[in-house]
Amino acid sequence: MNALARRIAQRIRTEGPLSLAAYMAMALYDPRCGYYATRDPLGESGDYVTAPELSQIFGELIGLWCADLWQRSGGPSPLVLAELGPGRGLLASDLLRAAACVPEFRRAIRLYLIEASPRLRAEQKTRLAFAEPVWVEQVDALPPGPMLLVANEFLDALPVRQFVRGKALWSERLVGIDPEDRLVFVDGPESFAASLLVPEASRESAEEGAVVEICPAALALASVLGARLEAEMGAALFVDYGAVAAQGRASLRAYRGHRRVHPLVAPGAVDLTADVDFGAVLEAARREGALCYGPVSQARFLGALGIELRLAALSRAATEAMRERLEKSVRLLLDPNEMGNLFKAVAITSPGMPAPEGFAGSRVQP
Ligand SMILES: C[S@@+](CC[C@H](N)C(=O)[O-])C[C@H]1O[C@@H](n2cnc3c(N)ncnc32)[C@H](O)[C@@H]1O
Repeated sequence: MNALARRIAQRIRTEGPLSLAAYMAMALYDPRCGYYATRDPLGESGDYVTAPELSQIFGELIGLWCADLWQRSGGPSPLVLAELGPGRGLLASDLLRAAACVPEFRRAIRLYLIEASPRLRAEQKTRLAFAEPVWVEQVDALPPGPMLLVANEFLDALPVRQFVRGKALWSERLVGIDPEDRLVFVDGPESFAASLLVPEASRESAEEGAVVEICPAALALASVLGARLEAEMGAALFVDYGAVAAQGRASLRAYRGHRRVHPLVAPGAVDLTADVDFGAVLEAARREGALCYGPVSQARFLGALGIELRLAALSRAATEAMRERLEKSVRLLLDPNEMGNLFKAVAITSPGMPAPEGFAGSRVQP
């Protein structure tokens, strides 16, 4: 048991079993021992590799996506450009380089970053110093005005709760301790309170033993964004892995050094992640009056933005070894058996905005 696991066990002895969300919040964000406080999890030497880490083209295309939408929306200036969970700052730096193709757009940008990890914030500070970013704690704290917001692999990192269908009602899946003081999953008592937290669509239809997972933080964020975009011009783009609609199963899992491990095995030392329920996220934003698009597969989204053309342009100036690396990374982004299908893009926009590029025919109908 590591130091954080011992502290979690101590809390359970005092307060009783914790919800998964409370366990995840400690494991990920504890200021002394939490996963994001203690390490840079990204890259070959970390626990996972993300799209901006694989290829500069990913951030460049998102930069062009933003520039196009900005131009077609009348080119407001200044513009809040916000990124949630910017990691090592690669997406933002590639985005800003591509944005320079449209100088008025680049001049309009005021960069805001929302980042929980002090380690990653320090990397962002170095890499993005040229853009003079401002860090804020949450979306509520972004300045008013026209805004474009982007986030890659952010929603999957937020804490989830799980509920298990019992004989008559639902119970919440919790983290408790066994007689040897090890962290274990336990199911709480069946109750009306737990049943009320299960989305209505799943509540009656599920069979005994079914598991429903919800991400209250993602739903709250979508509501805040939906309300802001209903009132003020702007758009948000999320790329992540997950399902079009709730799958009726648990997806919380953990990774360490690119290998899957048990989520309770070493809190603070492993990445915890869960599939995004895109349907629920978009519905939360739509209820506030925003327009919603997607999900569309990452392959389709990047294809529509011209990934093959950009690859060809970069390849022309590259050495053979570089060309091979470029092609390999683009295949990983697009291959349906790699990231192409698993990852999906969704967009949320103000009602008056033109439809964003890459989402043709995918507007969510009420
Ligand atoms: C999986 S990484 C993705 C990093 C980057 N977007 C990329 O694609 O390479 C998740 C990012 O979100 C940040 N993060 C996770 N939870 C957060 C939270 N609640 N608030 C702000 N940042 C958070 C992490 O520190 C990290 O930068």
